[in-house]
Amino acid sequence: MGQINKELMHKDAPIGVFDSGVGGLTVAREIMRQIPNEKIIYFGDTARVPYGSKSQKTVTRYSEQIVRFLRTFQVKTIVVACNTASAYALDTLEKDIDIPIVDVIKPGAKMATEVTRNGRIGVIATEATISSQMYTKYITNLNRSITIYEKACPLFVPLVEEGLWEDPVTDEIVRRYLTELIDIDIDTLILGCTHYPLIRSTLRRIIGDKVTLVNPAYETAVELRQLLSEMNILNEETPGLGSNQYQFYVSDKAEKFVRFANSIINYGILSAKTVNIEEY
Ligand code: DGL
Repeated sequence: MGQINKELMHKDAPIGVFDSGVGGLTVAREIMRQIPNEKIIYFGDTARVPYGSKSQKTVTRYSEQIVRFLRTFQVKTIVVACNTASAYALDTLEKDIDIPIVDVIKPGAKMATEVTRNGRIGVIATEATISSQMYTKYITNLNRSITIYEKACPLFVPLVEEGLWEDPVTDEIVRRYLTELIDIDIDTLILGCTHYPLIRSTLRRIIGDKVTLVNPAYETAVELRQLLSEMNILNEETPGLGSNQYQFYVSDKAEKFVRFANSIINYGILSAKTVNIEEY
């Protein structure tokens, strides 16, 4: 990480959160629940989603643009609320940034090493995240004796975006992807993509009760809270009415984003603004 500049980090400054689209709202939702005083500027790259099938170079360029955009709001920290961007772009983003940056992979990897009993962890994610092997790298760094089985599940994102959270088609696809992980007796499964917590009950039903499901969105909010508290920049005051506590920006299709957001977040999101992210 670059040199942190504490002067830039005010308690009442917002947190910048970004994702390739709507998925990162599962992370934003956890932040809203766990640290309800914080202000959030959310950016969803709805014009260029999905990231999960793109190259590292492209995802890194997109992520750098978004960070430049978010920094125009004087955010005190940035949350990379996308597993693919965390896997592909974090190293580059961290290089010269002077505020803290939190990713979604490290917190999930850490929790999985803490809860596994038989040392066999499964990871499901996009093709990009799996090909980066970032989950394996972080878990192995923490505990060399753990075996990790990674499985790309590219059909889950479109199923979730089509609203098929509880549907026989989703059941069938989940079964196909998870069978090999069930056969090799994992006891912990990391939901390594922002969309997967939304089909958690289907995953639970098919994988069975004995496997612990780790939700990196939840763990990321825990980590963020801890970081803000250690740096003494948790917002202690409840933002007043009219403070625009949560602001949403997208690169395309704002109305569709708002509809989806309201099905995930119980807050009454009225609007999202469209920005031309290529200008950043
Ligand atoms: N947000 C992405 C992730 O967590 C999933 C959607 C996409 O492929 O862009 O990996």
